[in-house]
Amino acid sequence: MKFVITQALCKEGFALIEGQADVFVADNGDPAAYISEMQNADAFIIRIGKIDRKTIEQSPKLKVIGLTAVGFDTVDTVAATEAGIPVTITPGANSRSVAEHSIAMMLAISKDLVESHIETQKGNFSSARSRGKCYEVFGKKVGLIGLGAIGAQTARLCRALGMETLAYDQLLTKENIEALGCIYYENYEEMLKECDFLSLHVPFLETTRNMITKKHLETMKRTAIIINCARGGIINEADLVDALENEIIAAAGIDVFMTEPPALDDPLLKAKNVLISPHSAALSREAVIAMHTMCVEGCLAVLNGEKYPHVANPDVYKHPKWNN
Ligand SMILES: NC(=O)c1ccc[n+]([C@@H]2O[C@H](COP(=O)([O-])OP(=O)(O)OC[C@H]3O[C@@H](n4cnc5c(N)ncnc54)[C@H](O)[C@@H]3O)[C@@H](O)[C@H]2O)c1
Repeated sequence: MKFVITQALCKEGFALIEGQADVFVADNGDPAAYISEMQNADAFIIRIGKIDRKTIEQSPKLKVIGLTAVGFDTVDTVAATEAGIPVTITPGANSRSVAEHSIAMMLAISKDLVESHIETQKGNFSSARSRGKCYEVFGKKVGLIGLGAIGAQTARLCRALGMETLAYDQLLTKENIEALGCIYYENYEEMLKECDFLSLHVPFLETTRNMITKKHLETMKRTAIIINCARGGIINEADLVDALENEIIAAAGIDVFMTEPPALDDPLLKAKNVLISPHSAALSREAVIAMHTMCVEGCLAVLNGEKYPHVANPDVYKHPKWNN
């Protein structure tokens, strides 16, 4: 059995195949660059990288593609399905971590932590104390767009802080949303007007691209704080910069960008009252272990002939290879 892996896994992930498999770690996200290694690969694990139809077709022994994430736009899933190859994903493995990151951003902004830190380090102790930009989150309303694995965790954590949770999710019913402890909104535009915080937890799709633009931002409270730990492009970035610079909203916590890494002169990096992190919401030590071990376990299950349920292409199990 041979595993080809784009970048090294954590030691807990490697431990699951130690002594059972030959492992080639490419340190390269493009398998076309090491196609000879793919000739006898049974499993290909992608951390940061991609695989296209041509490479799938040039990997004659390949039986499973493993992703250490839930997003699968890096794999030609149509080609994988046609070849009978399941593409395993890791739902839930990083939900807690991303939810905690969203809360961390809400609290850091509400407590003015970054500016206070910088000003205190500069020696401006007294003026840093009297900036008057600290607020409690207790009793505030947080609107969640997307109430899946991460959105629902974030809602629970918000309620633990005494916040009121409002939610919009295109695929969930009023009953679903209320069962998750949130106030149901049939359309998010109405919810935006109510929120003190807005936290985004939807995938980046044609239906979610530019969900929040200038016209939406203008309906929000001037004190509103937006958190985006989902994907760049769900909020229109130019409109967000404009809203921050003109104090149409109060602040934003941004983990994700339309282009990653963002250019050094990207105006969002330096916008007024923005808090930035480098797409690191899912990179807690615990989440990395959970993602890597779940990925290897999924690959091993497929290699053992199991119809592993967490796959990006469930139709693969209709392939003749799986119908016996
Ligand atoms: N910052 C990070 O490092 C990081 C890590 C993991 C995930 N994410 C992002 O978070 C997103 C959510 O992750 P998840 O695990 O909660 O996914 P999920 O599939 O469990 O939940 C997504 C929710 O969005 C809803 N949804 C889909 N389209 C919608 C629309 N047009 N309008 C409203 N709701 C819609 C779905 O019904 C679902 O409930 C991912 O798609 C990914 O983009 C970011």
